[in-house]
Amino acid sequence: MTPPLLQVKGLARHFGGLAAVKDLSFSVEKGQIVGLIGPNGAGKTTAFNTISGVLPPTRGRVVFNGQDISGQRPSIIVAHGLARTFQSTTTYADASVEKNIEYALLSRIRGSAPQRLMRRSSHLLGSDQIGEEINRIIGIVGMQAWRHAEAGTLAYGLQKKLGIAIGLAARPSMLLMDEPAAGLNHEECNELTRLLRQLRDEHDMTILLVEHHMAIVMEICERIVVLVHGEKIAEGTPEELRVNPAVVEAYLGAPDYAHA
Ligand SMILES: Nc1ncnc2c1ncn2[C@@H]1O[C@H](COP(=O)(O)OP(=O)(O)O)[C@@H](O)[C@H]1O
Ligand SMILES: [Mg+2]
Repeated sequence: MTPPLLQVKGLARHFGGLAAVKDLSFSVEKGQIVGLIGPNGAGKTTAFNTISGVLPPTRGRVVFNGQDISGQRPSIIVAHGLARTFQSTTTYADASVEKNIEYALLSRIRGSAPQRLMRRSSHLLGSDQIGEEINRIIGIVGMQAWRHAEAGTLAYGLQKKLGIAIGLAARPSMLLMDEPAAGLNHEECNELTRLLRQLRDEHDMTILLVEHHMAIVMEICERIVVLVHGEKIAEGTPEELRVNPAVVEAYLGAPDYAHA
């Protein structure tokens, strides 16, 4: 049996006296979409930050693709193939969609300063391959019609798509997505669901998804990890969690769910 792509082992992150994440362990198999859910303040974003290198863990280990990446810098973790999608605010508002993607590709350009610095050797691009790679990414997220549009003028749903495109520019094998459906309308949520499925089924992507929108989580996640007050209270398939009394009480029955 192949080991899981991502293994989180006894992860903890404290802020002064507050244990935002406590002894968290779970794993994600290659090709799965796994949900990480829990009420506001449960520690989901903190878990993401410690996994992706934005914050060093207080304790515990993160193993990705068989390698211990705990406490590494984000750029190194991305180079291992574990990327995070960005919020719309991280795009260059004055630049076009294709320029934003081009900037995100810089670290993969052969001989470029970031590539030399990171000694990244996989998925390198020659300068003559950049256009083709931009086309590939724009095609995946379906933004052909907006490639010359200024990022700052895009509707909110399209800005979020551009954030996913920028994450894909690192050519990751796994994406950590923090609330990609937040602020999207019904049709945009359906599109996002299709895109996530397509990433998994056609582009070999493994996804860890933090999301409040329960319909999306229940529909596309193979497994779900439930966090409450920094602790994992349950883990299972959507069908198992729907009837788990602790989950229903702690989360699914909460107002967050009713309004999602
Ligand atoms: N940088 C920080 N400094 C201090 N406390 C933080 C910081 N980030 C998060 N917290 C606290 O950690 C807890 C978990 O927050 P967070 O991970 O953002 O939860 P979630 O994403 O599940 O809503 C909250 O009590 C929050 O106030
Ligand atoms: Mg959060």
